[in-house]
Amino acid sequence: MAHILLVVGSTRPVRVGDQLAEQIAPLLSEGAGLPVRVVDLAELDLPLLNEPVMAGASIDYAHEHTKAWSELVKDAEAVVFLTPQYNSGYPAGLKNAIDYLYVEWQAKPALIVSYGAFGGGMGGAQLRAVTEFVKMRMAADNVEITIPRDAYVDWRLADPAAVVAPYREQLTAAGPALGKDLVPAS
Ligand SMILES: Cc1cc2nc3c(=O)[nH]c(=O)nc-3n(C[C@H](O)[C@H](O)[C@H](O)COP(=O)(O)O)c2cc1C
Repeated sequence: MAHILLVVGSTRPVRVGDQLAEQIAPLLSEGAGLPVRVVDLAELDLPLLNEPVMAGASIDYAHEHTKAWSELVKDAEAVVFLTPQYNSGYPAGLKNAIDYLYVEWQAKPALIVSYGAFGGGMGGAQLRAVTEFVKMRMAADNVEITIPRDAYVDWRLADPAAVVAPYREQLTAAGPALGKDLVPAS
């Protein structure tokens, strides 16, 4: 069944990425008219890239974990990357996951949702340079979610819905370009 893949880019044991994904998924789904499947990179647990041949040169993957990840991406109509900002970039685990594949990304509609103390815009911009390099079709401007310091209790969000609320319209509006109004790849 057609669906959007929402990639949770944070893998830390105590994090907020999973809480944000839970809030964002229904908004994307509503806008796109498609269900959202969440893939958590912490659960996917890809090792540091260990394919012997680079993805752009071959899709004859050596490892089961690569084949499984490739199928997850191939099966999706579109991919939404949910990424925190770490030291002005985006997490190494997310870059590692992207580097495992190549043709799977090409022409795939994509959206980047970043977050951080000031929206995680620098991390989101770095990620966008990569998604554009692998020729994903960016559906909209990055959505940048600001998380104020007082939103955290023990490094979890006390009220994730309140953090996401100001971005509801932006997230819903990005949906059609990820789903029902998809334009054919040129
Ligand atoms: C390694 C690391 C680096 C960080 N660097 C930044 C940063 O550059 N800018 C920022 O706004 N927040 C930064 N933060 C704070 C994160 O945005 C915040 O901890 C957020 O909750 C991380 O997402 P996560 O909890 O889902 O991993 C950093 C956090 C970590 C763990």
